[in-house]
Amino acid sequence: MNQLIVNTKNKKYKIVINSNFDGLYQEITKLNIPISKIAIITDDIVDPLYSGQVIDHLKKSYPEISSFSFIHGEKSKNLNTISDIYAFMIDQKLDRKSLVIALGGGVVGDMAGFAAATYMRGIKFIQVPTSLLSQVDSSVGGKTGVDFNGYKNIVGAFYQPELVYINTSTLITLPNKEFNSGMAEVIKHGLILDQNYYNEIKNNIDKILDLDDEQLQILIYNSCKIKSQIVSEDEKEEGCRALLNFGHTVGHAVERLKNFELLHGECISIGFIAALYISNQLGEITESTIDNVKKLLETFELPTSVAGLDPTDIYHEMFHDKKTSNNQLNFILLTDIGNSYIDNLVEKETVMNALQKIT
Ligand SMILES: NC(=O)c1ccc[n+]([C@@H]2O[C@H](COP(=O)([O-])OP(=O)(O)OC[C@H]3O[C@@H](n4cnc5c(N)ncnc54)[C@H](O)[C@@H]3O)[C@@H](O)[C@H]2O)c1
Ligand SMILES: [Zn+2]
Repeated sequence: MNQLIVNTKNKKYKIVINSNFDGLYQEITKLNIPISKIAIITDDIVDPLYSGQVIDHLKKSYPEISSFSFIHGEKSKNLNTISDIYAFMIDQKLDRKSLVIALGGGVVGDMAGFAAATYMRGIKFIQVPTSLLSQVDSSVGGKTGVDFNGYKNIVGAFYQPELVYINTSTLITLPNKEFNSGMAEVIKHGLILDQNYYNEIKNNIDKILDLDDEQLQILIYNSCKIKSQIVSEDEKEEGCRALLNFGHTVGHAVERLKNFELLHGECISIGFIAALYISNQLGEITESTIDNVKKLLETFELPTSVAGLDPTDIYHEMFHDKKTSNNQLNFILLTDIGNSYIDNLVEKETVMNALQKIT
């Protein structure tokens, strides 16, 4: 069992990485908080797979445990589902001492977290992420929220969990495509901050593809370490947390222009390559490094270019990102694998050249 600590201004909490749910009860006990009732929030795919297991581990000590599931997927990530969750919480008579467990992928985590942040002005919650993306990214850092009127994550709150409990064996049931999408964020962590980690991923491709548990534990530990260090330093994205947006400026534009038909990891994978081509024009990354990254992404069936989109459309779409401020595009660029910086002065021509390479 591996552990990490996230230490933000507002909260200190543990990330526990294990290959089963056996330690969950103990970790909840160690929080040392009074718990009147527990409510599991999950989706209709994860519910039949894992709610029973979680309940079995907890029901002896916490007999008042209930669960609510909604239809899986981004389409449910809205205020209507939040209303349903509030109704469930009231129905179950959850009070200020109740604990919410977010059991599922990033959609569940973001919504259960937002419901916990706002119900009775905030009740405690823990993250039990079950998709690779949620285990290495969304469950850590306290960003919660929903989509609204076509804008992704536009309504939300920073609200840190009490604990993140990761059971890596849940990845066995995760569809391959979803696993690969999560791998994009894993590879991102190596690219922006840690060349050794990038190489570790490259050197263990077979084990990762085989879902070798020991390798998955190493991978998730390293990614959570990077994410938790960044979040501990800059909880509200006023500085270095922006480095995590590597590939996301172009990625989000592609995601919207393709009407969310591509997975998030697939879009940022395309975005990584665009950012690398920008860095290449600035004299910082060689073509052979770009080929090296492309090869790794392709191993996980992640796209490195996108058909059917016009570079000019992508360029304009980037200005609609909620992170674009003062009409200025912010790019995260690399000087080398494992070394990134923020650049908001990239010239249009440089961006357009890079976009031409990925379309
Ligand atoms: N809060 C943050 O910091 C942050 C960061 C990145 C992404 N996000 C958000 O996360 C969401 C994406 O997360 P996601 O990729 O996990 O999507 P998701 O929650 O939709 O999960 C993907 C699919 O996998 C299924 N699934 C999850 N775990 C499973 C398992 N163990 N076995 C079988 N099926 C399983 C889900 O039911 C779903 O159908 C987006 O809404 C995004 O905005 C948030
Ligand atoms: Zn992302």
